[in-house]
Amino acid sequence: MRFIVLIFSTLTLLSAQSSYEKGKELYVSKACYACHGHKLEGMHMYPRLANRAKGYLSYKLKYFREKKADTQQQEMMIDFAIGLSDEDIDNLTTYFTDYVEEMQRERYDDSYQVHGDGGS
Ligand code: HEC
Repeated sequence: MRFIVLIFSTLTLLSAQSSYEKGKELYVSKACYACHGHKLEGMHMYPRLANRAKGYLSYKLKYFREKKADTQQQEMMIDFAIGLSDEDIDNLTTYFTDYVEEMQRERYDDSYQVHGDGGS
């Protein structure tokens, strides 16, 4: 019996994905980055989404999902918001609000070593 419980909890752990990760996957699979940028930094007329208030961002996504927009520019978002469930919006906005830029490994590469005495 204990063994079964162990297997079950291991499986649950393996399949459990954080809201942040789910949001990140959605952001990529729905191609949101095409306008809002790979680092949620935004560009031109497309707003930055990183580290902004979750409540506001989910309010906006739900607003667009109802086919509402205040400007012609915002109408662009309706098509992208329409297929999102409440859970999708929750995961996406968690990703936006909690966004942490991933380190770029190359930049912090300290494995470079100088051989010899540098010819002095
Ligand atoms: C074709 C370009 C484009 C794509 C793709 C796109 N957006 Fe947008 N997004 C916009 C524009 C334009 C606005 C409105 C900017 C404004 O208010 O003038 C916007 C606004 C938003 C806002 C509200 C931000 C604010 O400051 O009010 C959120 C949240 C958002 N987008 C999320 C998403 C998500 C999530 C996806 C993917 C499902 C996505 N966007 C895909 C262009 C895009």
